[in-house]
Amino acid sequence: MIPHKTVEQVLETARIEEVVGEFVQLKRRGVNMIGLCPFHSEKTPSFTVAPSKNIFKCFGCGKGGSAATFLMEHESFTFPEAIRWLANKYNIEIEEVQLTPEMLAIKQEEESLFILNDYARSFYEDQLFNTDVGKSVGLNYFKERGFREETIKKFGLGFAPSEPDALTKAATAKGFKKDYLRKLGLTTQHGKDFFRNRVMFTIHNLSGKPIAFAGRIMQKDARAPKYINSPETDIYTKSKILYGAYFAKKSIQKQDECILVEGYTDVISLHQAGIENVVASSGTSLTEGQISLIKRFTPNIKILYDGDPAGVKAALRGLDMVLESNMNVKIVLLPEGEDPDSYLQKVGVEDFEKYITEEARDFILFKAQLLLEEVKDDPVKRAGLIRDIVGSIAKIPDPIKRSAYIRECSRVMEVEEDVLHAETNKVVRSILENRKRLKARKEGTQVNIVPEGGAPVETTAVPPPQPARLTSHEFKEKDIARLLVAYGDKVYDEKENISIAEYVIAQIEEVLPEFESKKYRRIVELALQRLEAGKSVNPQFFIGHADAQISSLAVDLLHQPWEYSPGWDERGLFLNTQKMPDENAVNDAESALHRFLLNRVIKLCEKNQERIKNAAAEGDNPELVKLLKVQSKLMEHRNALAEKLKTVVLKG
Ligand code: CTP
Ligand code: MN
Repeated sequence: MIPHKTVEQVLETARIEEVVGEFVQLKRRGVNMIGLCPFHSEKTPSFTVAPSKNIFKCFGCGKGGSAATFLMEHESFTFPEAIRWLANKYNIEIEEVQLTPEMLAIKQEEESLFILNDYARSFYEDQLFNTDVGKSVGLNYFKERGFREETIKKFGLGFAPSEPDALTKAATAKGFKKDYLRKLGLTTQHGKDFFRNRVMFTIHNLSGKPIAFAGRIMQKDARAPKYINSPETDIYTKSKILYGAYFAKKSIQKQDECILVEGYTDVISLHQAGIENVVASSGTSLTEGQISLIKRFTPNIKILYDGDPAGVKAALRGLDMVLESNMNVKIVLLPEGEDPDSYLQKVGVEDFEKYITEEARDFILFKAQLLLEEVKDDPVKRAGLIRDIVGSIAKIPDPIKRSAYIRECSRVMEVEEDVLHAETNKVVRSILENRKRLKARKEGTQVNIVPEGGAPVETTAVPPPQPARLTSHEFKEKDIARLLVAYGDKVYDEKENISIAEYVIAQIEEVLPEFESKKYRRIVELALQRLEAGKSVNPQFFIGHADAQISSLAVDLLHQPWEYSPGWDERGLFLNTQKMPDENAVNDAESALHRFLLNRVIKLCEKNQERIKNAAAEGDNPELVKLLKVQSKLMEHRNALAEKLKTVVLKG
């Protein structure tokens, strides 16, 4: 970790014009400097650097910030990476804050893995360029495929010889531990090389470090698999990586589009031809992690599918997830039997670009067209298909875009536009109504502490509540957190399609700042973020959370036996017929929520009572009238909640 003081020092020292100047040609214009924006395509410069303020701002695309933000955007650095880069540039020594021994060990191990992978990369490269077999077999193979030497070097291609343990031997002789060689999957359990007699592809992470390898067999129709790949390791998670992303990220930003292909060779081939905004999903359908990786650079994605039936099916599998992620997705289906690499080699880059521009289909229309072929004239299947497509269209937030889709789909599917409109509107209406209801619920239970015509009552100036009360309220907060963790994804209202998390949060979102317990508030906030991202709030989300405090809190909340708030049971305020929560998630949610809200109103009543006393003592009559009105509102609300809970409010 970098100490706070050093971060400040680095940020103070860094000159924006010097940092940006390393990547963008800047010209002086008055007190500022201008250049062509590296984040979007432009012909006249609107990218401005203001040395006096030490910031940059693009008036074309709106991007702006400090030297550190520039590096984070431009180089896809994390914040610490940006600080390190700047520190290096300005010769500022970074005294790392002491890591715990465990963190240090993890970090050192990761570093070792990177270093070892880089050694393996150089080993395979050396074999390719500097050995007889490597040259005649490996290099020849790549050259026959049309890869130029500079491309081969750029992408870290190499050759693994057929000896059983060439790499393992060389690496151990260099002092690398066998343990790490095994961890990376470079050496098998039997001490042999994993990759043998294959041409090698290095897989890089976003900062260009080698994290894994793939080895391709050179013979045609061999029995062994075409590719073998490194296993997942601490530094390589397949689902979060897109092959080629390191080489593509700048171009993706600049073109504001990401081209997605299936294979390693497609990426390399297109890149070599000057189409650099291209990455590969490595043969599998897109994962959420990969989508969010692309989304960091652009909302526009064009998926190129090999011209084979399997590729088409893969396209459909990825559909819903990408739709949900709110990206603009185009599909290009290549001619039968071609993949991007082969087709590019066949027709040349000009025709290739023309093809992928002209043949790009919108995702929804592509789906409609494709499924239509499948259902043919079966009327039942056709009706199902229309519902399916309508469901997808309804998810699009923009009504103008929706209409355009309907028009297109009606043409493609030969269904009256009106029918599609009516169907879509039904779905859209029900989505909107759900939202409205949620909102109404929220407002219905809101405490109105503003009397007619009066000013809002200041609640922050009040002395903190008594510790005893705090414990009691904290307990209610804990209960809310427990509900969200345990049954957030359970159905609250089947007809309206509302989950318990949505219901609970709709009612407490506004009072969230009043939470007394930070940790329970955090649980609610996390749940809220999940909902806003359109994802469900389930136990796995909390248990698997990266923040260890959250995950252990979640485990505690889940395993906590059902208990009543201190005092509730003795006071007989609880119904004896209450079922155990697991059998009764909805009732549990209702009553926990009401207990929480009731407790809050009681607290507000007490605070207000305090104020009434003060106003009376000071003889401030107008204030007193106002506060009394507030009090009566609060009491009304309290009684309503108590009625819902069927409890008796003891103290008045
Ligand atoms: N793939 C894999 N393992 C296999 C086959 C394929 O991991 N046994 C992945 C690789 O990432 C490969 C991608 O799926 O790049 C696409 O497969 P394919 O089209 O068969 O390979 P290409 O990369 O196109 O290879 P080539 O051009 O040499 O046929
Ligand atoms: Mn292919």
